[in-house]
Amino acid sequence: MMLKGKTVLITGGSKGIGYGIAAACLEKDMNVVISGRKVSDLKQAITELKKISDHITYAVADVRNLADQEKSVEKAIATFGSLDVLIANAGVGHFAPIETMTSELWKDTIDINLTGVFNSVKAGLSEIEKSQGYIITMASLAGTNFFASGTAYNASKFGLVGFTQALMLDVRKKGIKVTTIMPGSVATHFNNHTPGEGDAWKIQPEDIGQIVVDLLSMPERTLPSKIEVRPSIPK
Ligand SMILES: NC(=O)c1ccc[n+]([C@@H]2O[C@H](COP(=O)([O-])OP(=O)(O)OC[C@H]3O[C@@H](n4cnc5c(N)ncnc54)[C@H](OP(=O)(O)O)[C@@H]3O)[C@@H](O)[C@H]2O)c1
Repeated sequence: MMLKGKTVLITGGSKGIGYGIAAACLEKDMNVVISGRKVSDLKQAITELKKISDHITYAVADVRNLADQEKSVEKAIATFGSLDVLIANAGVGHFAPIETMTSELWKDTIDINLTGVFNSVKAGLSEIEKSQGYIITMASLAGTNFFASGTAYNASKFGLVGFTQALMLDVRKKGIKVTTIMPGSVATHFNNHTPGEGDAWKIQPEDIGQIVVDLLSMPERTLPSKIEVRPSIPK
């Protein structure tokens, strides 16, 4: 894919990994729409990202709501004329042993991390087919490695890996590429963390941004469908 002038919608683009992907796409002269729930965070991100390029706008949208996702796609089309790439990145982490994992936290995790991706894909698929574009989902190494206190998060990310690989088989013959990225620890605001100097050993959000633009730049004939990425030297 020639990246210049192509339009990417990034869910959860106001912070962390989504923000890093937005910056990498702007560096490649792409048009970017970031979405999320908190308008103040979206506006703050836009102010910073406009230092790279002003080909960026935002949509206030909750991935749990299909209509919100449809409005985000409409915003991309109205602003930039097409939708070429969807990065279904928004996600949350609720970790607790099963004894204290509440129904609310379970539901929030599955609704955002799994059904939220389904909603974003359903909203964007026909436009992505028109543009013969690309869908990338943000899973996790927690989609293949299970751990204590991970019932909800593991279930959501194992499910997301399965969803994305099945999606890939459904749509690749229509000219749509699909990849799931499975990162280990990334220095972000995930799970109420504040990134700082102590996070230097982790993957940085811009590193995931680089993976995304590398994927988008692959020859048309080749599809890396599942990517595991981890810190070179774990703490
Ligand atoms: N950080 C890691 O170590 C790591 C590792 C592997 C995978 N991941 C995955 O990477 C993705 C991004 O996480 P991150 O680390 O970048 O976290 P982050 O820094 O906390 O950013 C999360 C982003 O998602 C948005 N978001 C959360 N719930 C949303 C909802 N219901 N609707 C729309 N947007 C929503 C947030 O904005 P609002 O709160 O304003 O909505 C924010 O923009 C997640 O899917 C996570 O599971 C993270």
